[in-house]
Amino acid sequence: MNLKGKVAIVTGGARGIGRAYAEALAGAGAAVLIADLLEAEGAETVKAIEAKGGRAIFKSVDVSNEASTQAMAETAAAELGGIDILVNNAAMFASLKGGAMADISLERWDRTMAVNVKGPWLCSKAVAPFMRLRGGGAIVNQSSISAFGMAGMLDYTASKAAVIGMTKSLATELGRDNIRVNCIAPGGTATEAYSEILGGRMEIAEATAKSKQLIAEIMKPEDMAGTLMHLVSDGSKFVTGQTFVVDGGRYFLG
Ligand SMILES: NC(=O)c1ccc[n+]([C@@H]2O[C@H](COP(=O)([O-])OP(=O)(O)OC[C@H]3O[C@@H](n4cnc5c(N)ncnc54)[C@H](O)[C@@H]3O)[C@@H](O)[C@H]2O)c1
Repeated sequence: MNLKGKVAIVTGGARGIGRAYAEALAGAGAAVLIADLLEAEGAETVKAIEAKGGRAIFKSVDVSNEASTQAMAETAAAELGGIDILVNNAAMFASLKGGAMADISLERWDRTMAVNVKGPWLCSKAVAPFMRLRGGGAIVNQSSISAFGMAGMLDYTASKAAVIGMTKSLATELGRDNIRVNCIAPGGTATEAYSEILGGRMEIAEATAKSKQLIAEIMKPEDMAGTLMHLVSDGSKFVTGQTFVVDGGRYFLG
């Protein structure tokens, strides 16, 4: 795939799945702005991309803050020449241990919604005018199979279901501007964040993958990148408003 001349923003691109997305986009020739709160990890990801001949910059961004998301879009336009692709991947995830209804504090609920729901809205709002200047673009939101129902992490599952609804509404609103909006819903993926949630016991995730998935191995961040690349490419010119479940067949099994 050739994304030469394209500019992409990946929120939460400093580590984990976002880093794999940023590396794949840069590997295909896009210039990438990594928007994250984690400066050291962001710098490290930029270095890894540059070492492979790609182009990337890091910008410290809080996706829940409108001034910050506006600065993110303006920086991408000024320093990289425009905006063609936005990947709304940043989320409150690793810090959300547990989450039965009665255990979630108001502060946690509000912060989860601010980052996971308000964040993709603010980022999309900030980049859309710049995409229109390019004659169109592609937005990919990151949901989760937990959106379809999961015990625990009630705030997280509600936020990820909201992302699916927002994808459809944004696709409706932006279609006539030639801006496509789609969504990826991953299953359990071996990242630092997932490991943190499991208290370092990744063997639990491995066992779940073996017993519940049709493709019975735990997914790695780079296993998500193919779906992203498909969705941002011109080959998907008529794909919009869709959610793609990438979970090795786990949800299919129920
Ligand atoms: N790993 C999994 O099993 C899994 C499964 C389904 C969905 N997901 C989703 O995939 C995405 C990436 O997950 P991950 O496992 O790589 O987790 P992660 O915690 O490593 O990634 C989230 C990134 O978002 C950043 N971030 C958090 N709040 C932010 C804010 N306010 N502003 C800017 N950046 C912020 C974090 O610093 C981090 O780099 C998330 O949206 C997560 O919900 C992950």
